Amino acid sequence: MRKNSFICRECGYVSPKWLGRCPGCGQWNTITEEAAPVRSGPGGGRAPAAAPAPLRLSDVDLGAQARVSSGLAEFDRVLGGGLVPGSVVLVGGEPGIGKSTLLLQALLDVERRDIPAILVSGEESAAQVKLRSVRLGGEGSRLRLVTQTQTEAVVASLEEIRPSVCVVDSVQTLWSSEVGSVPGSVAQIRDATAQLLRVAKDNNIALVLVGHVTKDGELAGPRVLEHMVDAVLSFEGERAQPFRILRAVKNRFGSTNEVGVFQMAERGLEEVPDPASVFLEEGDLRSGSVVVPVLEGTRCLLAEVQALVATSNMPMPQRVARGVDRNRLAMIVAVLNRRARLPLFKCDIFVNVAGGLVLEDPAADLAVALAIASAWQDGADGRGVVAFGEVSLTGKVRYVLQGDKRIQELARRGFPHILVPGRNAEEFAKGGTVASGLRLEAVADIAQAVKYATPRS
Ligand code: TYD
Ligand code: MG
Repeated sequence: MRKNSFICRECGYVSPKWLGRCPGCGQWNTITEEAAPVRSGPGGGRAPAAAPAPLRLSDVDLGAQARVSSGLAEFDRVLGGGLVPGSVVLVGGEPGIGKSTLLLQALLDVERRDIPAILVSGEESAAQVKLRSVRLGGEGSRLRLVTQTQTEAVVASLEEIRPSVCVVDSVQTLWSSEVGSVPGSVAQIRDATAQLLRVAKDNNIALVLVGHVTKDGELAGPRVLEHMVDAVLSFEGERAQPFRILRAVKNRFGSTNEVGVFQMAERGLEEVPDPASVFLEEGDLRSGSVVVPVLEGTRCLLAEVQALVATSNMPMPQRVARGVDRNRLAMIVAVLNRRARLPLFKCDIFVNVAGGLVLEDPAADLAVALAIASAWQDGADGRGVVAFGEVSLTGKVRYVLQGDKRIQELARRGFPHILVPGRNAEEFAKGGTVASGLRLEAVADIAQAVKYATPRS
Protein backbone atom coordinates (compact mmCIF):
# COMPACT_ATOMS: atom_id res chain seq x y z
CA MET A 1 0.00 0.00 0.00
CA ARG A 2 1.23 3.48 -0.78
CA LYS A 3 1.44 5.80 2.13
CA ASN A 4 0.82 9.50 1.80
CA SER A 5 3.35 11.85 3.20
CA PHE A 6 3.21 15.43 4.40
CA ILE A 7 5.57 17.80 2.66
CA CYS A 8 6.38 21.46 3.26
CA ARG A 9 5.78 23.56 0.14
CA GLU A 10 8.51 25.98 1.12
CA CYS A 11 11.45 23.84 2.09
CA GLY A 12 10.45 20.28 1.23
CA TYR A 13 10.55 19.00 4.81
CA VAL A 14 8.84 15.59 4.98
CA SER A 15 6.80 14.59 7.99
CA PRO A 16 4.81 11.39 8.67
CA LYS A 17 1.88 13.44 9.98
CA TRP A 18 0.33 16.84 9.43
CA LEU A 19 1.85 19.74 11.35
CA GLY A 20 0.71 23.35 11.58
CA ARG A 21 4.22 24.70 11.60
CA CYS A 22 7.07 23.29 9.56
CA PRO A 23 10.00 22.21 11.77
CA GLY A 24 12.26 22.67 8.73
CA CYS A 25 11.71 26.33 7.91
CA GLY A 26 9.47 27.49 10.75
CA GLN A 27 6.64 28.69 8.51
CA TRP A 28 2.97 28.14 9.28
CA ASN A 29 0.46 26.29 7.12
CA THR A 30 2.93 25.21 4.48
CA ILE A 31 2.62 21.45 5.06
CA THR A 32 0.32 19.61 2.69
CA GLU A 33 -0.59 16.00 2.22
CA GLU A 34 0.75 14.40 -0.93
CA ALA A 35 0.44 10.96 -2.41
CA ALA A 36 3.75 9.14 -2.61
CA PRO A 37 5.02 9.00 -6.19
CA VAL A 38 4.66 5.72 -8.07
CA ARG A 39 7.86 6.04 -9.99
CA SER A 40 10.77 4.57 -8.10
CA GLY A 41 13.66 6.98 -7.74
CA PRO A 42 17.32 6.20 -8.34
CA GLY A 43 18.02 2.89 -6.63
CA GLY A 44 14.34 2.37 -5.95
CA GLY A 45 14.03 -0.73 -8.09
CA ARG A 46 16.90 -2.58 -6.40
CA ALA A 47 17.81 -4.51 -9.53
CA PRO A 48 21.41 -5.73 -9.37
CA ALA A 49 23.56 -3.24 -11.28
CA ALA A 50 26.64 -3.82 -13.38
CA ALA A 51 29.75 -2.16 -11.97
CA PRO A 52 30.51 1.00 -13.96
CA ALA A 53 34.08 1.50 -15.14
CA PRO A 54 35.38 4.62 -13.38
CA LEU A 55 36.72 7.46 -15.48
CA ARG A 56 40.17 8.87 -15.02
CA LEU A 57 40.22 12.63 -14.51
CA SER A 58 42.92 12.87 -17.16
CA ASP A 59 40.48 11.39 -19.67
CA VAL A 60 37.72 13.90 -18.96
CA ASP A 61 37.27 16.10 -21.99
CA LEU A 62 36.47 19.70 -21.18
CA GLY A 63 35.66 20.40 -24.82
CA ALA A 64 32.10 19.24 -24.18
CA GLN A 65 31.80 21.99 -21.56
CA ALA A 66 32.03 24.90 -23.98
CA ARG A 67 29.49 27.36 -22.71
CA VAL A 68 26.66 28.90 -24.65
CA SER A 69 26.38 32.65 -24.23
CA SER A 70 22.90 33.87 -23.32
CA GLY A 71 23.53 36.97 -25.41
CA LEU A 72 23.23 39.11 -22.29
CA ALA A 73 26.58 39.86 -20.69
CA GLU A 74 25.04 40.43 -17.26
CA PHE A 75 23.27 37.06 -17.39
CA ASP A 76 26.47 35.31 -18.52
CA ARG A 77 28.37 36.98 -15.71
CA VAL A 78 26.03 35.56 -13.08
CA LEU A 79 26.19 32.11 -14.67
CA GLY A 80 29.97 32.24 -14.54
CA GLY A 81 30.49 32.72 -18.28
CA GLY A 82 27.36 31.41 -20.00
CA LEU A 83 25.10 28.36 -19.98
CA VAL A 84 26.78 24.98 -19.50
CA PRO A 85 25.57 22.11 -21.74
CA GLY A 86 24.15 19.26 -19.69
CA SER A 87 23.40 21.46 -16.70
CA VAL A 88 20.19 22.63 -15.08
CA VAL A 89 19.71 26.20 -13.86
CA LEU A 90 16.73 27.26 -11.80
CA VAL A 91 15.66 30.91 -12.09
CA GLY A 92 13.36 31.93 -9.25
CA GLY A 93 11.52 35.16 -8.60
CA GLU A 94 8.17 36.69 -7.84
CA PRO A 95 5.50 36.75 -10.53
CA GLY A 96 5.81 39.79 -12.78
CA ILE A 97 9.44 40.48 -11.98
CA GLY A 98 10.60 39.67 -15.54
CA LYS A 99 11.69 36.03 -15.64
CA SER A 100 9.84 35.20 -18.86
CA THR A 101 11.12 38.37 -20.49
CA LEU A 102 14.74 37.67 -19.55
CA LEU A 103 14.67 34.08 -20.78
CA LEU A 104 12.79 34.78 -23.99
CA GLN A 105 15.33 37.48 -24.79
CA ALA A 106 18.13 34.98 -24.21
CA LEU A 107 16.45 32.29 -26.35
CA LEU A 108 15.84 34.70 -29.23
CA ASP A 109 19.49 35.65 -29.15
CA VAL A 110 20.66 32.04 -29.01
CA GLU A 111 18.42 31.13 -31.92
CA ARG A 112 19.70 34.13 -33.89
CA ARG A 113 23.15 32.58 -33.67
CA ASP A 114 21.77 29.34 -35.16
CA ILE A 115 22.10 27.42 -31.93
CA PRO A 116 19.01 25.21 -31.63
CA ALA A 117 16.78 26.33 -28.78
CA ILE A 118 13.32 25.50 -27.44
CA LEU A 119 10.90 27.30 -25.20
CA VAL A 120 8.48 25.13 -23.24
CA SER A 121 5.72 27.52 -22.26
CA GLY A 122 3.16 26.27 -19.79
CA GLU A 123 1.98 29.68 -18.73
CA GLU A 124 1.53 31.60 -21.93
CA SER A 125 -0.10 30.59 -25.19
CA ALA A 126 1.83 30.49 -28.46
CA ALA A 127 0.20 33.80 -29.46
CA GLN A 128 1.23 35.47 -26.22
CA VAL A 129 4.83 34.32 -26.64
CA LYS A 130 4.80 35.55 -30.23
CA LEU A 131 3.52 38.97 -29.20
CA ARG A 132 6.18 39.25 -26.56
CA SER A 133 8.90 38.14 -28.94
CA VAL A 134 7.88 40.84 -31.43
CA ARG A 135 8.07 43.40 -28.66
CA LEU A 136 11.54 42.16 -27.82
CA GLY A 137 12.75 42.61 -31.37
CA GLY A 138 12.48 38.95 -32.30
CA GLU A 139 10.14 39.37 -35.24
CA GLY A 140 10.58 36.51 -37.68
CA SER A 141 12.44 34.36 -35.15
CA ARG A 142 12.30 30.64 -35.86
CA LEU A 143 12.62 29.76 -32.17
CA ARG A 144 10.78 26.50 -31.44
CA LEU A 145 7.93 26.51 -29.00
CA VAL A 146 6.29 23.67 -27.07
CA THR A 147 3.10 24.50 -25.20
CA GLN A 148 2.63 21.04 -23.70
CA THR A 149 2.82 20.75 -19.95
CA GLN A 150 2.76 17.00 -19.48
CA THR A 151 6.22 16.11 -18.28
CA GLU A 152 6.57 12.94 -20.37
CA ALA A 153 5.56 14.84 -23.53
CA VAL A 154 8.13 17.57 -22.85
CA VAL A 155 10.78 14.91 -22.25
CA ALA A 156 9.86 13.22 -25.56
CA SER A 157 10.17 16.54 -27.45
CA LEU A 158 13.57 17.21 -25.97
CA GLU A 159 14.81 13.72 -26.76
CA GLU A 160 13.68 14.06 -30.34
CA ILE A 161 14.86 17.60 -31.09
CA ARG A 162 17.89 17.60 -28.78
CA PRO A 163 18.26 21.40 -28.62
CA SER A 164 21.38 23.03 -27.18
CA VAL A 165 19.32 25.27 -24.94
CA CYS A 166 15.87 24.76 -23.45
CA VAL A 167 13.82 26.98 -21.15
CA VAL A 168 10.85 25.60 -19.22
CA ASP A 169 8.51 28.39 -18.12
CA SER A 170 7.51 27.44 -15.50
CA VAL A 171 8.44 24.19 -13.79
CA GLN A 172 5.31 24.62 -11.66
CA THR A 173 3.04 24.05 -14.67
CA LEU A 174 4.48 20.62 -15.47
CA TRP A 175 2.55 17.55 -14.38
CA SER A 176 2.63 13.80 -14.78
CA SER A 177 -0.32 11.46 -14.37
CA GLU A 178 2.02 9.05 -12.64
CA VAL A 179 2.30 11.42 -9.72
CA GLY A 180 -0.85 11.50 -7.67
CA SER A 181 -0.96 15.16 -6.77
CA VAL A 182 -1.92 18.48 -8.38
CA PRO A 183 0.37 20.52 -10.66
CA GLY A 184 2.49 22.92 -8.65
CA SER A 185 2.79 20.54 -5.69
CA VAL A 186 6.13 19.48 -4.29
CA ALA A 187 5.78 15.92 -5.63
CA GLN A 188 4.99 17.14 -9.17
CA ILE A 189 7.76 19.70 -9.50
CA ARG A 190 10.28 17.31 -7.99
CA ASP A 191 9.28 14.57 -10.39
CA ALA A 192 9.38 16.93 -13.39
CA THR A 193 12.78 18.26 -12.38
CA ALA A 194 14.19 14.77 -11.92
CA GLN A 195 12.98 13.69 -15.36
CA LEU A 196 14.22 16.86 -17.09
CA LEU A 197 17.55 16.64 -15.29
CA ARG A 198 18.11 13.21 -16.76
CA VAL A 199 17.24 14.32 -20.31
CA ALA A 200 19.46 17.36 -20.01
CA LYS A 201 22.45 15.32 -18.84
CA ASP A 202 21.90 12.54 -21.40
CA ASN A 203 21.54 14.92 -24.34
CA ASN A 204 23.90 17.68 -23.26
CA ILE A 205 21.13 20.28 -23.14
CA ALA A 206 21.59 23.51 -21.21
CA LEU A 207 18.29 23.57 -19.36
CA VAL A 208 16.78 26.54 -17.58
CA LEU A 209 13.79 26.07 -15.30
CA VAL A 210 11.68 29.04 -14.26
CA GLY A 211 10.21 28.83 -10.77
CA HIS A 212 7.78 31.26 -9.20
CA VAL A 213 8.29 32.29 -5.65
CA THR A 214 5.00 33.31 -4.11
CA LYS A 215 4.73 34.96 -0.73
CA ASP A 216 1.47 33.22 0.10
CA GLY A 217 3.05 29.81 -0.53
CA GLU A 218 0.29 28.80 -2.94
CA LEU A 219 2.85 27.12 -5.16
CA ALA A 220 5.68 24.93 -4.02
CA GLY A 221 8.73 27.14 -3.71
CA PRO A 222 11.87 26.63 -5.80
CA ARG A 223 13.68 25.97 -2.55
CA VAL A 224 12.52 22.37 -2.67
CA LEU A 225 14.49 21.97 -5.94
CA GLU A 226 17.66 23.77 -4.89
CA HIS A 227 19.64 20.66 -4.07
CA MET A 228 18.70 18.92 -7.35
CA VAL A 229 19.88 21.54 -9.82
CA ASP A 230 23.35 22.81 -10.72
CA ALA A 231 22.67 26.50 -10.22
CA VAL A 232 19.99 28.60 -8.60
CA LEU A 233 19.55 32.20 -9.67
CA SER A 234 17.16 34.60 -8.06
CA PHE A 235 15.65 37.54 -9.91
CA GLU A 236 14.84 40.39 -7.57
CA GLY A 237 13.59 43.93 -7.54
CA GLU A 238 10.47 45.97 -7.04
CA ARG A 239 7.90 45.73 -9.77
CA ALA A 240 7.22 49.44 -9.69
CA GLN A 241 10.91 50.23 -10.11
CA PRO A 242 12.88 49.65 -13.28
CA PHE A 243 15.97 47.97 -11.83
CA ARG A 244 16.34 44.23 -11.38
CA ILE A 245 19.10 42.16 -9.84
CA LEU A 246 19.94 38.65 -10.92
CA ARG A 247 21.80 36.85 -8.16
CA ALA A 248 23.46 33.45 -8.06
CA VAL A 249 22.37 31.70 -4.88
CA LYS A 250 24.07 28.45 -5.81
CA ASN A 251 26.38 27.76 -8.72
CA ARG A 252 28.32 24.60 -9.45
CA PHE A 253 29.95 26.25 -12.46
CA GLY A 254 30.92 29.65 -11.14
CA SER A 255 31.09 31.79 -8.06
CA THR A 256 27.99 32.44 -6.05
CA ASN A 257 26.89 35.89 -5.00
CA GLU A 258 27.81 37.35 -8.37
CA VAL A 259 25.10 39.72 -9.48
CA GLY A 260 23.87 41.10 -12.78
CA VAL A 261 21.88 44.30 -12.99
CA PHE A 262 19.17 44.99 -15.54
CA GLN A 263 16.70 47.72 -16.29
CA MET A 264 13.18 46.89 -17.45
CA ALA A 265 12.49 49.09 -20.45
CA GLU A 266 10.03 49.44 -23.31
CA ARG A 267 11.68 46.66 -25.27
CA GLY A 268 12.61 44.22 -22.55
CA LEU A 269 15.50 44.06 -20.15
CA GLU A 270 18.56 46.18 -20.78
CA GLU A 271 21.88 45.54 -19.17
CA VAL A 272 23.28 48.06 -16.74
CA PRO A 273 27.03 47.66 -17.05
CA ASP A 274 27.94 50.26 -14.42
CA PRO A 275 25.22 49.89 -11.80
CA ALA A 276 26.98 51.26 -8.71
CA SER A 277 24.67 54.18 -8.12
CA VAL A 278 21.43 53.24 -9.87
CA PHE A 279 19.73 52.27 -6.62
CA LEU A 280 20.19 55.67 -5.00
CA GLU A 281 17.26 58.06 -4.88
CA GLU A 282 17.58 61.26 -6.81
CA GLY A 283 18.30 64.54 -5.11
CA ASP A 284 20.09 65.39 -1.90
CA LEU A 285 20.42 62.96 0.94
CA ARG A 286 17.95 63.88 3.65
CA SER A 287 18.07 63.17 7.34
CA GLY A 288 16.95 59.60 7.99
CA SER A 289 18.84 58.42 4.91
CA VAL A 290 22.29 56.91 4.82
CA VAL A 291 24.27 55.78 1.79
CA VAL A 292 26.28 52.59 2.19
CA PRO A 293 28.55 50.75 -0.24
CA VAL A 294 27.68 47.04 -0.19
CA LEU A 295 29.56 44.22 -1.88
CA GLU A 296 27.64 41.98 -4.24
CA GLY A 297 30.06 39.39 -5.53
CA THR A 298 32.93 41.30 -7.08
CA ARG A 299 30.87 44.44 -7.43
CA CYS A 300 30.34 47.35 -5.12
CA LEU A 301 26.83 48.86 -5.18
CA LEU A 302 25.71 51.97 -3.37
CA ALA A 303 22.53 51.45 -1.39
CA GLU A 304 20.38 53.98 0.41
CA VAL A 305 18.93 53.00 3.77
CA GLN A 306 15.95 55.11 4.89
CA ALA A 307 14.34 55.13 8.29
CA LEU A 308 11.30 56.65 9.92
CA VAL A 309 10.85 56.74 13.68
CA ALA A 310 7.57 57.74 15.32
CA THR A 311 6.13 57.53 18.81
CA SER A 312 4.01 54.42 19.01
CA ASN A 313 0.43 54.14 20.22
CA MET A 314 0.66 50.40 20.45
CA PRO A 315 1.62 48.27 23.42
CA MET A 316 4.10 46.52 21.12
CA PRO A 317 5.82 49.10 18.92
CA GLN A 318 6.14 48.16 15.27
CA ARG A 319 9.39 47.21 13.59
CA VAL A 320 8.96 47.11 9.86
CA ALA A 321 11.90 46.28 7.60
CA ARG A 322 12.16 46.12 3.83
CA GLY A 323 15.47 45.06 2.39
CA VAL A 324 16.97 44.45 5.83
CA ASP A 325 16.67 41.26 7.85
CA ARG A 326 14.18 41.72 10.72
CA ASN A 327 16.38 40.03 13.28
CA ARG A 328 19.30 42.18 12.27
CA LEU A 329 17.10 45.26 12.68
CA ALA A 330 15.99 44.15 16.15
CA MET A 331 19.61 43.71 17.17
CA ILE A 332 20.63 47.12 15.84
CA VAL A 333 17.74 48.81 17.66
CA ALA A 334 18.74 47.08 20.89
CA VAL A 335 22.34 48.21 20.44
CA LEU A 336 21.18 51.80 19.80
CA ASN A 337 19.10 51.63 22.96
CA ARG A 338 21.75 50.27 25.21
CA ARG A 339 25.01 51.49 23.77
CA ALA A 340 24.06 54.86 22.34
CA ARG A 341 21.32 55.63 24.88
CA LEU A 342 18.65 56.30 22.28
CA PRO A 343 15.26 55.71 23.95
CA LEU A 344 13.68 53.82 21.07
CA PHE A 345 11.67 51.23 22.99
CA LYS A 346 8.41 53.21 22.69
CA CYS A 347 8.90 54.06 19.02
CA ASP A 348 7.61 52.51 15.83
CA ILE A 349 10.55 52.02 13.50
CA PHE A 350 10.34 51.61 9.74
CA VAL A 351 13.39 50.86 7.65
CA ASN A 352 13.47 50.68 3.87
CA VAL A 353 16.21 50.17 1.30
CA ALA A 354 15.59 52.23 -1.83
CA GLY A 355 15.15 50.57 -5.20
CA GLY A 356 14.22 47.10 -3.90
CA LEU A 357 17.74 46.09 -2.92
CA VAL A 358 18.07 43.44 -0.23
CA LEU A 359 21.08 44.01 2.02
CA GLU A 360 22.97 41.03 3.36
CA ASP A 361 26.38 42.61 3.72
CA PRO A 362 27.14 43.17 7.43
CA ALA A 363 28.77 46.45 6.44
CA ALA A 364 25.24 47.86 6.18
CA ASP A 365 24.73 47.63 9.98
CA LEU A 366 26.18 51.04 10.65
CA ALA A 367 24.04 52.60 7.90
CA VAL A 368 20.86 51.09 9.36
CA ALA A 369 21.81 52.30 12.83
CA LEU A 370 22.59 55.83 11.66
CA ALA A 371 19.46 56.09 9.51
CA ILE A 372 17.40 55.25 12.60
CA ALA A 373 19.38 57.61 14.82
CA SER A 374 19.03 60.44 12.37
CA ALA A 375 15.31 59.78 11.85
CA TRP A 376 14.82 59.68 15.61
CA GLN A 377 16.36 63.10 15.97
CA ASP A 378 13.59 64.74 13.99
CA GLY A 379 14.62 67.96 12.35
CA ALA A 380 18.27 67.09 12.04
CA ASP A 381 20.12 69.46 9.78
CA GLY A 382 19.62 67.18 6.84
CA ARG A 383 23.28 66.54 6.22
CA GLY A 384 23.66 63.42 4.17
CA VAL A 385 25.54 60.68 5.97
CA VAL A 386 27.63 58.09 4.21
CA ALA A 387 28.85 55.19 6.32
CA PHE A 388 29.79 51.55 6.45
CA GLY A 389 30.79 49.12 9.19
CA GLU A 390 29.55 46.11 11.07
CA VAL A 391 28.01 46.76 14.47
CA SER A 392 28.61 44.27 17.26
CA LEU A 393 26.43 43.66 20.33
CA THR A 394 28.97 45.49 22.45
CA GLY A 395 28.40 48.59 20.35
CA LYS A 396 31.76 48.43 18.58
CA VAL A 397 31.96 49.39 14.93
CA ARG A 398 33.93 46.58 13.36
CA TYR A 399 36.27 46.34 10.42
CA VAL A 400 34.75 45.08 7.14
CA LEU A 401 36.32 43.45 4.11
CA GLN A 402 37.36 45.40 1.05
CA GLY A 403 37.06 48.79 2.66
CA ASP A 404 39.33 50.40 0.08
CA LYS A 405 37.11 49.30 -2.76
CA ARG A 406 34.09 50.76 -0.99
CA ILE A 407 35.82 54.04 -0.25
CA GLN A 408 37.00 54.39 -3.82
CA GLU A 409 33.52 53.77 -5.18
CA LEU A 410 32.08 56.45 -2.90
CA ALA A 411 34.80 58.88 -3.87
CA ARG A 412 34.18 58.17 -7.54
CA ARG A 413 30.51 59.03 -7.05
CA GLY A 414 31.35 62.31 -5.36
CA PHE A 415 30.71 61.43 -1.72
CA PRO A 416 33.74 63.05 -0.10
CA HIS A 417 32.91 62.48 3.55
CA ILE A 418 32.61 58.96 4.93
CA LEU A 419 32.21 57.34 8.36
CA VAL A 420 34.30 54.19 8.48
CA PRO A 421 35.55 51.68 11.08
CA GLY A 422 38.90 52.73 12.55
CA ARG A 423 40.88 49.88 11.06
CA ASN A 424 39.43 50.49 7.60
CA ALA A 425 40.56 54.11 7.83
CA GLU A 426 44.08 53.00 8.79
CA GLU A 427 44.18 50.47 6.01
CA PHE A 428 43.13 53.04 3.44
CA ALA A 429 45.78 55.49 4.67
CA LYS A 430 48.45 52.78 4.34
CA GLY A 431 47.34 51.99 0.81
CA GLY A 432 48.59 55.42 -0.13
CA THR A 433 45.70 56.20 -2.48
CA VAL A 434 45.38 59.93 -2.76
CA ALA A 435 41.90 61.17 -3.43
CA SER A 436 41.65 64.92 -3.21
CA GLY A 437 38.96 66.28 -0.93
CA LEU A 438 38.24 62.86 0.58
CA ARG A 439 37.65 62.92 4.33
CA LEU A 440 37.38 59.72 6.33
CA GLU A 441 35.90 59.87 9.81
CA ALA A 442 37.14 56.87 11.80
CA VAL A 443 34.52 55.70 14.31
CA ALA A 444 35.24 53.21 17.07
CA ASP A 445 31.76 52.63 18.46
CA ILE A 446 28.12 53.28 17.85
CA ALA A 447 27.82 56.10 20.37
CA GLN A 448 30.57 58.04 18.62
CA ALA A 449 29.02 57.41 15.20
CA VAL A 450 25.58 58.56 16.38
CA LYS A 451 27.06 61.69 17.87
CA TYR A 452 28.66 62.49 14.58
CA ALA A 453 25.59 61.71 12.46
CA THR A 454 23.13 63.62 14.64
CA PRO A 455 25.15 66.66 15.60
CA ARG A 456 22.50 68.32 17.78
CA SER A 457 21.69 65.38 20.03
P1 TYD B 1 7.41 38.84 -17.05
O1 TYD B 1 8.64 38.52 -17.80
O2 TYD B 1 6.13 38.38 -17.63
O3 TYD B 1 7.47 38.37 -15.53
P2 TYD B 1 7.49 36.91 -14.90
O4 TYD B 1 7.71 35.93 -15.98
O5 TYD B 1 8.60 36.97 -13.90
O6 TYD B 1 6.18 36.74 -14.22
O7 TYD B 1 7.44 40.42 -16.89
C1 TYD B 1 6.31 41.09 -16.71
C2 TYD B 1 6.50 42.58 -16.59
O8 TYD B 1 7.49 43.13 -17.41
C3 TYD B 1 5.20 43.16 -17.02
O9 TYD B 1 4.70 43.89 -15.92
C4 TYD B 1 5.50 44.03 -18.17
C5 TYD B 1 6.97 44.26 -18.11
N1 TYD B 1 7.60 44.36 -19.43
C6 TYD B 1 8.18 45.53 -19.82
O10 TYD B 1 8.18 46.53 -19.10
N2 TYD B 1 8.80 45.61 -21.05
C7 TYD B 1 8.82 44.55 -21.90
O11 TYD B 1 9.38 44.67 -23.01
C8 TYD B 1 8.21 43.34 -21.49
C9 TYD B 1 8.19 42.14 -22.38
C10 TYD B 1 7.61 43.28 -20.24
MG1 MG C 1 6.34 34.51 -16.67
